[in-house]
Amino acid sequence: MFTLATVSHKRTKMKRVIALIWGFSLYLLSFAAGDAVRGGSTPERILPQVARWVPANGGSFVLTPACSYRLEGKGVTGDAAEAFRVYLDNCPLAMRSADKKESPAIRIKIGPKTLKDTREGAYQLIVERKGISIQANGVAGAFYAIQSLLQLQAADDEGRIACCKIEDAPRYAYRGLMFDVVRHFHGKDFILKQIDLMAQLKMNRLHLHLTDNEGWRIALDCAPEMVRKGAFGESWWFNHVMSRKPLVFAEEPSGYIPGTVYDDGRVYGGYYSKEDLREIIAFAATRQIEIIPEIEFPGHNQALLHAHPEFFCQGEHKVNNVVCLGKENVFTFYEKVLEEVMELFPTQYLHIGGDEAKKSNWNACPLCQQRIADEQLKDVYELQSYGIRRMEKFINGHGKRLIGWDEILEGGLSDNATVMSWRGTEGGVEAIRMNHDVVMSPSTFYYLDFGQDAPYKEPLAFNSYLPLEVVYSYEPEDDIIAACGEDYDPSILKHLLGVQGNLWSECIVSDSQFEYMLYPRAFAIAENGWSPKGSKNYPAFREKSLSLIERVKAQGYHPFELASEVGHRPEAVQPVPNLALGAKATWTCGGKAESADKVVDGWLGDWAIRRNPRWQEFGKKEVTLDVDLGEIKSLHYIGTEFVDYKARRFCVPADTEFFVSEDGVHFTPLSIPQMRLSEDRMHFSILTVGGTVDVRARYVRLRFNTGKQKVRGYISEIMIN
Ligand code: ACM
Ligand code: ZN
Repeated sequence: MFTLATVSHKRTKMKRVIALIWGFSLYLLSFAAGDAVRGGSTPERILPQVARWVPANGGSFVLTPACSYRLEGKGVTGDAAEAFRVYLDNCPLAMRSADKKESPAIRIKIGPKTLKDTREGAYQLIVERKGISIQANGVAGAFYAIQSLLQLQAADDEGRIACCKIEDAPRYAYRGLMFDVVRHFHGKDFILKQIDLMAQLKMNRLHLHLTDNEGWRIALDCAPEMVRKGAFGESWWFNHVMSRKPLVFAEEPSGYIPGTVYDDGRVYGGYYSKEDLREIIAFAATRQIEIIPEIEFPGHNQALLHAHPEFFCQGEHKVNNVVCLGKENVFTFYEKVLEEVMELFPTQYLHIGGDEAKKSNWNACPLCQQRIADEQLKDVYELQSYGIRRMEKFINGHGKRLIGWDEILEGGLSDNATVMSWRGTEGGVEAIRMNHDVVMSPSTFYYLDFGQDAPYKEPLAFNSYLPLEVVYSYEPEDDIIAACGEDYDPSILKHLLGVQGNLWSECIVSDSQFEYMLYPRAFAIAENGWSPKGSKNYPAFREKSLSLIERVKAQGYHPFELASEVGHRPEAVQPVPNLALGAKATWTCGGKAESADKVVDGWLGDWAIRRNPRWQEFGKKEVTLDVDLGEIKSLHYIGTEFVDYKARRFCVPADTEFFVSEDGVHFTPLSIPQMRLSEDRMHFSILTVGGTVDVRARYVRLRFNTGKQKVRGYISEIMIN
């Protein structure tokens, strides 16, 4: 059933004049009242923003639940089309296939050469008063047209969609998210729920991080011991990751149901059975999403080494999570695991991890050293590269492709590997310049485990501040073009497959917290991956996000409340006048003196800490900070700010001392109290060390020695009044 919005046309001259006046008034009103007057929602409401659209001459179509559809064209046979039919029958509109004689509400034509735009996922959508027509070369395009339609329908209270024509296609082929289901396990139903929302956002890759130190989350026939011994541990992992307590593994509890989170207060964990994963893969496929599995090698492997201690290097283990690359049984194990994983997952990619493998065990291990000699490798970096290349050969031999974190570049990268760039953007840029395919997922823009608002009101996060606007601002091509300089050739961009947001789950205890960290920042990644270059408009995007947040809340998701975002630190949006502003400042650290302009520029630090120009980083050393005010002045207050974030091991030094001097030679200590903080604090705070004084001085000195406390941290500004 559908309702056609009709406009009555009486053919008397008088009525035409009235209609014209009425129409002109509506046109004028439309500037104030938007969609309601123009008659229905328009495509600027769609997130991600469509590539092109034009309005038609007024009128709208009202799309109601249980509307009829007809699939036409050469592309409507086969499994994908069948799955699409099932999707249409069950999607929020619960459409029904039109009877033969009936004129359908939505005509969907799928077939090769239906559209000139051959990009996978391209579609054309025409909304007319008499109905809707969709054209696409493949099922993916038709699926995305339906997503646009669902958003348009939901954006108007009465389901009215203004007549228009949309021509849309994705900017990038890869528009993904990564879920870390290891540090905290998330059950099968939760993953299906996220896939459904990813599909609404036209995202098409879900990378599952299935193995890591804290667990092995995939049950395989070839290695049943891995979930029996490596998927459960003493509650809570959270305590391990953030406090560095040692991991204590536990056997699989009896009665555990695969695909669910187990937590009896003593033992915590879980894993997916192959049946769970088949269900996830099939559900995702009907929503045009490919699941990419990650099996970590050679690092991040405490769970594996717990079940297989024979995979450790010989000799002393400086690191407890890296397998030996001198032992053949390690490769035999991985080959049988990868074979079974490749058989299970239809995707062409297998993610092999490759990140953060510390090399010290290999340096000390006679077997690794033997391998280096036998294979004529230069060092342990080439040994890692040897391991990755060997895995790649095996994976390629099964007709698939290796993808890995950007450390796989170290020691030389094999020709066919695809790089997932996470340590800033440099690794990805370098790989693209070497003609490797790359997915950009830089921690500086796309790490969704970082906090998204003022840290004092947010749950504990792995890093302090990555708000929606910063995520949205990422333009993946800028760094590539800048790095190429005069050598830039646009054809290099064919290696930029797309973008991915990563949600690591060290701090993410519950399902609702996981969603909170994902949305709306995943909306921004979806728009960056889909919408044309140069089309960014943050205020418009934010408005759409606010509406979509309300819609997904009604669907049962738990997004961050963007409407009540605090935003940047209010104290840090403009410089604070004080006597130290513009003074000469010198930073002496580990015997080296440097100018310290940052701490006398008047700017207090914002919530974002690392690599932020407002914060001066210091290491585990003695630090002396000297400020020269230029002349002797009366001083009433001296203080500074430190970050305290013990969970991330940034702390306020306990032994701060302030001094003043008139001549720069003789310094008098001030009785400004030092910080004493509780040992079990976790959360982020910005703390002031300072106090009122009553002195005359030209020179102010701050000294602290963090070495003996093993503290490192950040200092913002010296404030003197
Ligand atoms: C990573 O964040 N270690 C890929
Ligand atoms: Zn070894």
